[in-house]
Amino acid sequence: MAADERNVVLIGMMNSGKTTAGGLLAQALGRPLEDTDKWIEQREGKTVSQIFADDGEPHFRARELDACRDLGQRSGLVIACGGGLPLTPGCMEALKTNGIVFWLARDPGESYDDMETSGRPLARQGRGEFISLYESREPVYRQWADEIIRDFSSPAETVNRILEVLER
Ligand code: S3P
Repeated sequence: MAADERNVVLIGMMNSGKTTAGGLLAQALGRPLEDTDKWIEQREGKTVSQIFADDGEPHFRARELDACRDLGQRSGLVIACGGGLPLTPGCMEALKTNGIVFWLARDPGESYDDMETSGRPLARQGRGEFISLYESREPVYRQWADEIIRDFSSPAETVNRILEVLER
């Protein structure tokens, strides 16, 4: 597959800017944006919070795998992943076959401080717990990242960094 048809996959903790950067990136590249949470919500007919409450987290994680198997077979997409998705066995394998993976490694304290918690069942915890969760996930993000993005001065700058890598 030609490099420019590969999916651009964004991973990282909640509120690291995947959806915002993903939208701008999709615009800049003229590609569709797929968001794994939205993919799941559309198929389940309910919000992520409702799925967690009614069906439990394991059910949600199984749907993440469904999303990755579907999106990983397609090409030319920008894919914004839920924060815990790389921890779900099989997900990243499915996305990597046809994708370049960017980890948006935003400082977890900053992510926590300006996070919109509604619609994020795992965001309803204290700052210390959120940072501990990030630390437990960090090795997994690192393991799957082709590139690590650390510029969060603005969403536009984050996207510029990604575009620079894609143009290399
Ligand atoms: C989750 C992150 C959420 C969503 C779900 C679980 C997580 O996505 O998938 O609430 O485990 O970190 P965002 O990273 O888009 O908030």
